[in-house]
Amino acid sequence: MATMQMTVRPEDLSQLPKGAERIPDPGILVIFGASGDLTKRKLLPALFHLWQSNLLPQKFAIVGVARRPLGDEFAADMRSGIVEFGGVDARDPKLDGFVSTISYFPLNFDDPASYAGLKTELDRIASEKGIGPDRLFYLATAPEFFTGIIENLGAQNMAQPEKGRVAIVIEKPFGHDLDSARLLNHQVNAVFHENQVFRIDHYLGKETVQNLLVFRFANGIFEPIWKRNYIDHVQITVAETLGVEGRGPFYEKAGALRDVVQNHMMELLALVALEPPSSFESESVRREKLKVWQAIPSIPILSTVRGQYGPGIVAGEHVVGYRDEERVNPESGTETYAALRLTIENWRWAGVPFFLRAGKRMKKRATEISIQFKQPPLLIFNRMALSGPCSDIQPNLLTIRIQPDEGISLRFGAKVPTTPEMTVCPVNMDFDYEAAFGKSSANGYERLLLDAMLGDQTLFSHRDGVETTWALYTPVLQAWASKKPQVFPNYFAGSWGPECADHLLESTGHSWRNDLGRKA
Ligand code: BG6
Repeated sequence: MATMQMTVRPEDLSQLPKGAERIPDPGILVIFGASGDLTKRKLLPALFHLWQSNLLPQKFAIVGVARRPLGDEFAADMRSGIVEFGGVDARDPKLDGFVSTISYFPLNFDDPASYAGLKTELDRIASEKGIGPDRLFYLATAPEFFTGIIENLGAQNMAQPEKGRVAIVIEKPFGHDLDSARLLNHQVNAVFHENQVFRIDHYLGKETVQNLLVFRFANGIFEPIWKRNYIDHVQITVAETLGVEGRGPFYEKAGALRDVVQNHMMELLALVALEPPSSFESESVRREKLKVWQAIPSIPILSTVRGQYGPGIVAGEHVVGYRDEERVNPESGTETYAALRLTIENWRWAGVPFFLRAGKRMKKRATEISIQFKQPPLLIFNRMALSGPCSDIQPNLLTIRIQPDEGISLRFGAKVPTTPEMTVCPVNMDFDYEAAFGKSSANGYERLLLDAMLGDQTLFSHRDGVETTWALYTPVLQAWASKKPQVFPNYFAGSWGPECADHLLESTGHSWRNDLGRKA
């Protein structure tokens, strides 16, 4: 397929506005569960990127909190994480200054007395460094510790101090079904006001995800056709080549639906489907997303498919099946693949099917949204004798590549030159992020951490949103739990998932797009 490349010229780049240069007030960021992978691989590299760009206050401290008895080696370990995972040069002149902001405090999450010690330590650091009373607590622990930490912060009066701005960031999973999410919301809101609560979904930190709003609402040409009159159907795919990466016990309880569909994929769906918010402000954007989720009717079980990978070959390597992964039940019924069909019953989308699928150990890593448009009302060209390799008239397809090969492409038909007949060939107009803006080492947490420090909740989930998406998926999870799948494993690692997922689309005359990624 031919491709037209769209690039930003260097002279255009110098015209681009500088990033929002808002700098939070001096404060302390406290990371609970700091000895885990997330802190080293994602949070600290992201914080250093902010520091490099002078987006953090000079008077700033990061306190890692976890159960292990660590000392100065924590800061040294974070330094190596920044270099290894943040694409940072070990000799970066700003690195030492940043690492000097990091310290560690060992704490037993369930022990109230430890929190009094933490409070004293934070006060000590604040007075030593001349930092004010602002605090951001980041919960990166296993979810079973969330409630205890929140209650202890409340009991020590660290959640509602007399002075300063205090906020809490809570990592996913936020609950494991509707009841547990409601309970957790209740426990959180008993200690923190909703405007202090930042439920994080790292997908919303991805540039390509934020760009969905820009693409739709900063351009005049797409919105008029962004509706059921012109759109045939939408597919959203989150395909990973990775397996469960040593997270067997976590994944056994989660499965693909809880791990990826209820959160990341529903955020993507909402950004594709929402009505234009009246402004790019937290309340407006969150309200419009909520309306999308509320307009989705319950999902019939026949519109869902689950799968589990068996052994296979991924990227030329033999890999074991899910049931042979470390610390996984050899008879596990947990799904590593989920696919479903849903509809959004409002004026914009009534009758347009949305197909979602997420899977581990798939053939290719690709997170993509594709919007297939309806065919023209009259196909005059396919009445002619078409010949050659490109004689197929395909519908227009807008593909938004969230990752990797970040970009957007639009497929349309073009006349093949020099042929006597009207031979139509699909071609692509392609926008490639890296070609246009250069490579970025940002991991998405930069924006979210900065927004949380600044108190901007636009890119975070509201309690109502979390409960609405759980309300949609809890019946599916219950139905699946009541009937152990007989046919697991039902797809080979390195394939596009179970065959039965194809039937979800066949009845509507569609098929999954498996040519994901950038077209050369
Ligand atoms: C996490 C899931 O939330 O998202 C993981 O727990 C998954 O299982 C990951 O691999 C995918 O994120 P990304 O950014 O790599 O698409």
